[in-house]
Amino acid sequence: MKKTYLVTGGAGFIGSNFIYYMLKKHSDILLVNLDKLTYAGNLENLKGVEGDTRHIFVQGDICDCTLIRNLFEQYDFDYVINFAAESHVDRSIACPEIFVQTNVLGTVNLLQRTKEAWYNQETKSWKADKKYIQISTDEVCGALGKEGLFTETTPLSPHSPYSSSKASADMFVMAFHDTYNMPVNITRCSNNYGPYQFPEKLIPLIINNARHHSQLPVYGDGMQVRDWLYVEDHCKAIDMVTSSGKVGEVYNIGGHNERENIFIVKTIIGQLHDRLQDAGISEDLIKHVEDRLGHDRRYAIDPEKIKRDLGWYPETCFEKGIVLTIDWYLENQEWLDHVTCGEYQQYYKKMYKNRR
Ligand code: NAD
Ligand code: TYD
Repeated sequence: MKKTYLVTGGAGFIGSNFIYYMLKKHSDILLVNLDKLTYAGNLENLKGVEGDTRHIFVQGDICDCTLIRNLFEQYDFDYVINFAAESHVDRSIACPEIFVQTNVLGTVNLLQRTKEAWYNQETKSWKADKKYIQISTDEVCGALGKEGLFTETTPLSPHSPYSSSKASADMFVMAFHDTYNMPVNITRCSNNYGPYQFPEKLIPLIINNARHHSQLPVYGDGMQVRDWLYVEDHCKAIDMVTSSGKVGEVYNIGGHNERENIFIVKTIIGQLHDRLQDAGISEDLIKHVEDRLGHDRRYAIDPEKIKRDLGWYPETCFEKGIVLTIDWYLENQEWLDHVTCGEYQQYYKKMYKNRR
């Protein structure tokens, strides 16, 4: 039976990959994509679905009560999947307010409007077969030392303004489940990489700088560890959680792929150097710069539950995923040029110029 989805933040990195994944995987669906088009949202990311009537783009804010109410009147959504967020830790350190606005208040608005549409006050029951999915992050769990993995029961202990806002959103989602019995799932993934990622994040920033022979900024000693997950694998997991995840459950989604930042940077340098036959792309470009405030040392996810319960596992090993990613950025340099002109230049100066 045809399913209708409200996908928020579908013009951003993971959201746009999700739109592509879903349209390829399912023929009989309708995806209504609500995105504010902040600096991180980009209609160029959706060029490949232009003309596909199964995708409808709506520009708007998840904080806008009337707009979302109208969307629920217009469409009988089966699923709401909330990707929309301010997503960059460094920006949250510089300016936390917008993170509270979008990530916390926007999520609560979305929950409220969804409840209005799906909950019958008279019969005190929810419409059947509906679900709200919150796309969260491993960062809500805080940081790990050398040992251990985050599981679904690890207590929330966020450190950055970004992760605090995401943890707060998670708590509201669970509060709606616990208080009103709202059908929800939360997914918590590790660091994604792949096509369409905005070059404020480590991997595309290093690719972009390296192709221009610009310095490659490594925060602190570069020995921080992230668990890298190829974005298409993440999209597959979200699809599986949406259709088969048990209501009220949290699912961790990780890549089984822990790497130190400096390893990531050196891998990209090696790949670009060899592929472009460019001697100017070398480790001499690496510059260790002042560390991020409150920098979390290590994140790592235990994805055993989603494997056991839904049969998902990360299919793309890092060696393959990084090649696919670099291929994409080399083939889409025009995209990179577009997103790094204008406002991005000011952002870059502000974040990196005075970093010792
Ligand atoms: P992104 O920054 O690339 O995209 C966010 C999208 O949300 C953009 O298209 C933006 O325009 C839109 N948006 C922002 N504020 C909005 C608002 N108020 N109303 C409507 N749309 C708005 O982020 P991403 O990397 O694609 O992340 C998507 C989700 O996944 C986020 O919730 C993020 O917290 C989570 N997440 C991301 C990662 C990662 O590695 N990228 C890891 C863990 C979790
Ligand atoms: P990032 O991609 O911002 O994701 P997150 O902070 O959500 O993990 O950063 C990944 C890691 O790379 C993180 O430890 C910070 C580090 N980093 C750098 O060393 N230099 C950079 O210029 C950036 C953007 C990140």
